[in-house]
Amino acid sequence: MLREPSYLDSEINQDRTPGKNPRVLEKILPYILAYPKSLIFSCLAILIASLTVLGFGTGLRYLVDYGFSETFPFRLTGSLVTLSMIVLLMAMASYARLYWVSQLSERAIADLRKDIFSHLLKQDISFFESTSLGEIQSRLTTDTTLLQIVLGTSIPIALRNILIISGGLVMLILTSSILTGIIAIVIPLVLIPILVFGRKVQRFSRLAQDKTADVSASLDETFGAIRTVLSFCRESYMSHLFSVQVENIYQTSIKRVQARARLTALVMVLVFSGVSAVLWYGGNSVIEGQMTPGELFAFLFYAAAVAGAAGSLSEVHGDILRAAGGTERIFEFLALKSSLKMPLEPKSLPSPLQGHLQIKDLSFAYPSRPKKPILKNVSFEVFKGETVALVGPSGVGKTTLFNLLMRFYDPMKGQIYIDGIPFDELEAHVSRDLIGLVPQDPVMFTTTFYENIRFGNLDATKKQIIAAAKDAHADEFIKSMPQGYHTHIGEKGVTLSGGQKQRIAIARAILKNPPILLLDEATSALDLKSESKVQKALKALKHNRTTLIIAHRLSTVQKADRLVVLDQGKIVAVGSPKTLVGENDVYKSLIDAHIKAAAS
Ligand SMILES: Nc1ncnc2c1ncn2[C@@H]1O[C@H](COP(=O)(O)OP(=O)(O)OP(=O)(O)O)[C@@H](O)[C@H]1O
Ligand SMILES: [Mg+2]
Repeated sequence: MLREPSYLDSEINQDRTPGKNPRVLEKILPYILAYPKSLIFSCLAILIASLTVLGFGTGLRYLVDYGFSETFPFRLTGSLVTLSMIVLLMAMASYARLYWVSQLSERAIADLRKDIFSHLLKQDISFFESTSLGEIQSRLTTDTTLLQIVLGTSIPIALRNILIISGGLVMLILTSSILTGIIAIVIPLVLIPILVFGRKVQRFSRLAQDKTADVSASLDETFGAIRTVLSFCRESYMSHLFSVQVENIYQTSIKRVQARARLTALVMVLVFSGVSAVLWYGGNSVIEGQMTPGELFAFLFYAAAVAGAAGSLSEVHGDILRAAGGTERIFEFLALKSSLKMPLEPKSLPSPLQGHLQIKDLSFAYPSRPKKPILKNVSFEVFKGETVALVGPSGVGKTTLFNLLMRFYDPMKGQIYIDGIPFDELEAHVSRDLIGLVPQDPVMFTTTFYENIRFGNLDATKKQIIAAAKDAHADEFIKSMPQGYHTHIGEKGVTLSGGQKQRIAIARAILKNPPILLLDEATSALDLKSESKVQKALKALKHNRTTLIIAHRLSTVQKADRLVVLDQGKIVAVGSPKTLVGENDVYKSLIDAHIKAAAS
């Protein structure tokens, strides 16, 4: 029902910091070893593809040495047929390599993404408070995509190149050891300037990319703040700022293009000089009869293959380091542990459940501000079927108490019991499952009304969903929407009023049908009509359930069986609404505030 995240849209962010140690990539091994068949096929394909490259050189040698003999004309055909077979095998192996390796890497990354997602869902709320959504997103999309590309492309290329280099070197030595010696001097002379210059080109591309990123940030800012820009008549100023940035990109790109053009010329000259040096020595050896022309040809072919492989290996190295950085970040997430206390042998709840809540000596401070205690030695009970209203000034810690009851955090001291069983002997999802929460500012998903209510119980039938909406007094306004229950509620419910969102949240809780209810009344004043609808909805919901309600409205307070008054993190009074009038100052000032508000 939730929108599917689109990983494919994400661009590979070149700015992700590279790692230092490529060994962290080993952590991905279990995800790859889980598919032995794909792994074996991938390795075989890489091996065969590399061998065919080496085989091609030998084929070339036979073609040159024997293919052009006047006495045995059929040898030309024979050599060509052999070469064609090698090429056919090379093509098949390359196809298999591309297919199996990509399939394996995509499969492993899909599994990894699922694992990260479900692992993150097991973290406690304080993790989400300290980690930005952007960071989670970029690790789940950019870093995993980076890893996928490296697994599916860079590593197989590196493997193939290592095989070609080692096999190629053997073939070079076998063909001519003296020429190999010459090559050993020539290849670095050719490659090192190319690599050094290549780095420069890369640096310029990187710079151009950074500048492009600046432009998109400024686009965001200009059009995001379009009202401010227009109201200050700053169109030409913004255009000026933009054109400076665009010029910057142009200048950097020109530098890159120049460096690239020089690199291309340099490559041509250096490669040709290298080849000439080998041809000169090799040619002389052929003339002197120490070498056959075919051997010289094959030699040149192997030398080119080894040089090409070595060159691309150095490029792959950078990619592998970047993926190592991504892997570190991904596995940092997978190593996270929820700070909630998990029982070794979790207890199960008695059935049928009574729904008796006991809060004993509870003290709590948020992990992000451990020195600022919010709740101090709070103790009270809510009996089966009873409605208790929690009142107190804003910021006293009422919602915080609900956060503890939902087990978003563990208390620093004290304990919460359900039917006598302490919370920390239950698994978090067991106690959460018993509690229906209607939050102060209910959260809607970007989907239809129907799906938003169904979130309360995924097994509910259409009939039950509509019945819940009716009980929550939401049916009426939902039906007046253009597509009724199947109307989209817009991004996170922006099209709904506060009262409407609350009624959807109430319908969701009715559908969940929990024995214990936590209602956090909205602080924003609803108009009388909406309030009476929400009140009616709440009445339907509270029926037969243990209810703890954070009350901001006098009408709610008066309907409660008992009141718990909180002030400065402590309970200052407990009693029925009637007995507390005139007895407790905090309660009295609350009532006074309501009377004033009603009068104004
Ligand atoms: N996630 C958090 N991390 C750190 N401090 C928090 C967090 N949430 C709330 N607080 C702080 O805890 C205190 C109690 O907040 P809480 O939301 O429980 O108040 P409340 O009684 O529900 O108030 P209101 O009636 O306005 O809803 C406040 O001082 C608030 O700043
Ligand atoms: Mg609150």
